Amino acid sequence: MLKITVENAIQYKDKFDSLLDEANHHLADLFQSTDSYTDSKGWVNLNEHASQEKLDRIISKAQEIREQADAFVLIGVGGSNNAARSVIESIGDKSGTQIIYAGDTLHPQKIQETINKLEDKSFYIDCIAKNFETLEPGSGFRVLRKLCERTYGDEYARRVITTGTVDSLLHKISRQEGFDFFDFPLNVGGRFTAMTNVGLLPMAVANVDIKALVKGAEEMKRSLIESPPSENPALIYSIHRNIFYGLNRKLEILSSFDYRFNFFFKWWRQLFAESEGKDGKGIFPVTGEFSEELHSIGQFLQDGEPIIFETFLEVINKNESYKVPKDHIHDQFDYLDGKDFSEINRMAYEATVEAHKLSMPVMNIQIDSLDAYHFGQLFYFFQVACYVSCKLMGVNPFNQPGVESYKKEMFRKLGKL
Ligand code: PA5
Repeated sequence: MLKITVENAIQYKDKFDSLLDEANHHLADLFQSTDSYTDSKGWVNLNEHASQEKLDRIISKAQEIREQADAFVLIGVGGSNNAARSVIESIGDKSGTQIIYAGDTLHPQKIQETINKLEDKSFYIDCIAKNFETLEPGSGFRVLRKLCERTYGDEYARRVITTGTVDSLLHKISRQEGFDFFDFPLNVGGRFTAMTNVGLLPMAVANVDIKALVKGAEEMKRSLIESPPSENPALIYSIHRNIFYGLNRKLEILSSFDYRFNFFFKWWRQLFAESEGKDGKGIFPVTGEFSEELHSIGQFLQDGEPIIFETFLEVINKNESYKVPKDHIHDQFDYLDGKDFSEINRMAYEATVEAHKLSMPVMNIQIDSLDAYHFGQLFYFFQVACYVSCKLMGVNPFNQPGVESYKKEMFRKLGKL
């Protein structure tokens, strides 16, 4: 089970106690669906979009794809690809059907590279888009659909999947052309879709155990409902974020010594930036890939302007092992002889926490192991905590008005009517 600790928690105890009732009230609102965002909370009750029946349909489609294709192209951007990519790149099967990401760029070279990657490969494509107006997936889908048509001729529709909202234009096109359609829940915003068709189908193609992932999320939900408020990890995290924000800490860095979180970091940045950054408020989310980036941004974290607090994300039980070999050359690294890199990495983590907590507020989030079950726990935990954090800050967690304004200008420049 996920565990959270706050370094020097006693310093913040009075503030924590004063915010606990309000935060707990927001949490109860979320689980009882008693506040105004009922049209965006479809992710809270996992059975709504990740029932056994839906999971079985996903698994059977994924099985078909794994049998028929060397590559699966996930066409989607932001909330339509970040969750799946974070799990696939971390624990997905690298020996089976290869997952290729598209529809997340407007750069011609990247588009050409994707097409090149598909040469001589059998493939399926899945266009994932909620409103199907977004430029990257919309244009990417056209390019790849044409490639699919050129490659497979009359049979091409069998290899095209779409994930969109029911009765949207994407749905109509799918019916017309005979594409296999999966629904993108209307009551779930992109960044909250990890445990829906949006995240789960690509993960299943990469042979991720999506039933275990949903179980992890369900058990996290139960624990967040049952924990006493002062021990509830989502309340501890969201309340402390707001306390640190009140102390002028305007940035949160999520750091890890486990490189397998590097794509999860992208998901986390989107979740908090898009949910919280509005109305002139919000904590700017950044991430730290350690130990590498200790040698670049570490200096700022330690001695720069005190505007940051840090949350470490770590896995406790790791099976990986690689020992430092002995050597006859005296390179002054003999003190590492026979030591395991996992132990050295762990020491680096502990030393960094000790050093960083002297100059900024620090929290630690730990999970037992890195597998589908714990990814489910992390997704659900951060989604709930983000909701409570936004409510404490007084912003709507579910809209993104700022994103719309650049899109409008871009559409005007491109001559969209
Ligand atoms: O979380 C969100 O709502 C956004 O980040 C969207 O996921 C992103 O803009 C992609 O939108 P769409 O699914 O409409 O292509």
